Amino acid sequence: MRAVPKNGNKDQAEYIDWLAQFAHQVRRVLKKDGSFVLDLGGAYEKGIPTRSLYNFRVLIRFCDDVGFFLAEDFYWFNPSKLPSPIEWVNKRKLRAKDAVNTVWWFGKSEWPKADVTRVLAPYSERMKKLLEDPEAFYAPKLRPSGHDIGKGFGKDNGGSIPSNLLQIPNSESNGQYLDGCKLIDEKQHPARFPAKLPEFFIRMLTNPGDIVLDIFAGSNTTGQVAQAQGRRWLSFELSREYVGASAFRFLEKRNSHSEMREIFDRIERDETVDLTEYLLQRELDQDGVFSPSTPDEILLAREESSLSDSSISG
Ligand SMILES: C[S@@+](CC[C@H](N)C(=O)[O-])C[C@H]1O[C@@H](n2cnc3c(N)ncnc32)[C@H](O)[C@@H]1O
Repeated sequence: MRAVPKNGNKDQAEYIDWLAQFAHQVRRVLKKDGSFVLDLGGAYEKGIPTRSLYNFRVLIRFCDDVGFFLAEDFYWFNPSKLPSPIEWVNKRKLRAKDAVNTVWWFGKSEWPKADVTRVLAPYSERMKKLLEDPEAFYAPKLRPSGHDIGKGFGKDNGGSIPSNLLQIPNSESNGQYLDGCKLIDEKQHPARFPAKLPEFFIRMLTNPGDIVLDIFAGSNTTGQVAQAQGRRWLSFELSREYVGASAFRFLEKRNSHSEMREIFDRIERDETVDLTEYLLQRELDQDGVFSPSTPDEILLAREESSLSDSSISG
């Protein structure tokens, strides 16, 4: 979630109170070994080049009053972020550009479920060389730091343990989502996550089949990533327009302009929309013969068609 309070201490105090209400509800529904991850952008105080402490106050409030435990503080560095705030950075050149968000990882207990080996970072070139020929590269010895670098150091674990500084540019094109917005001439969400950000935490903190909830879903990047990772998901969003456009993430390239418009309009009118109906419609338009009517039948039909494709190419 990312939302920055307006300027001013009063606004910030109100914002923290407002956010804490949600935090209580999140904690209530979370499993005992579940996690709550909160992304907060930085802010300045009104009219002065002094940083707001609101994101740190949120952290302390959530731990001291709401009952969460800070599992780890993460920092999301977005190298593609434009210089801001304009007054302090671009015009007066008093401050560096603000390109790091704080991402607080809270546990409902002191022991939230986690497995960092699911999010290993690629090895550095130096490490790759070492793995190719550990004997030649490294003489096992006790280092000045006290770490005993033994032969085990040369073992290939598939990647290195990531740090809590996540470097993820927010320059993804979000293909289908943006295409859909353009096609029906609706505005795209202005503050979308890069998929890699929720992906990191979903992979590390949940297992396939677990439920991922985004309480401020926006364009529903989180839901799309959760689905791609085989997790079940729930997403809450205040704006019907954002929910309507988020549906494009789950359609197929073949869905037509008029279908997209219809889905968006129906969601805006507060109708319940079953997207599988639109996927089904496409199946019928393409094949014209078989008419699967339930999501399971659609999946089965797809599996069968891909099986027969394989036998043709074989
Ligand atoms: C920063 S955006 C989230 C963007 C999202 N991460 C994405 O990738 O698209 C925060 C969203 O929270 C929504 N929001 C604000 N208050 C809300 C509420 N009370 N319940 C649900 N959503 C809310 C806003 O409409 C906004 O779209």
